Amino acid sequence: MAVLPLRTLPDPRLRLKAKRVRTVDASILKLIDDMIDTMHHVQGVGLAAPQVGKSLRIAVIHVPEQEILVLINPEVVRKSGEVLLGEACLSVPGYRGQVKRATSVTVKALNRQGKEVRVKGTELLGQALQHEMDHLEGKLYIDLLERPDRLEKIELSDDTSDGQERG
Ligand code: NI
Repeated sequence: MAVLPLRTLPDPRLRLKAKRVRTVDASILKLIDDMIDTMHHVQGVGLAAPQVGKSLRIAVIHVPEQEILVLINPEVVRKSGEVLLGEACLSVPGYRGQVKRATSVTVKALNRQGKEVRVKGTELLGQALQHEMDHLEGKLYIDLLERPDRLEKIELSDDTSDGQERG
């Protein structure tokens, strides 16, 4: 396992629509392990493969005190409600802003065994699912800001202290 370098804006790979994973083979499993290492190293809630320069539909999520989720080729099957939430992104360091998210989202994906799983998320998990899946479309939370003029600059040392989604 290895910590991979994080891509940050304006890296063009963050803006590509990621490709579906065709086979969950050894190279994909190694990438997933490295993404989990990288997410933990930077104390993120989630990480999507484009953030480490791989344009593939893979995301990992680790909400505190919950199990690590591995999502391959994730798709939203249901979402409901709407809530305004504070959000930040590892690929846009030093900023945060407010975005509208669904309050509840259900996602189907393959897990690392290649089996289909369904995950329903609310609160931080729901937000992380939506944030990471946006990365797979080449979308960033700064594209969705409720008030673009209110993108806030933050001290990097504050980054992990406010409980906001950061992935
Ligand atoms: Ni992000």
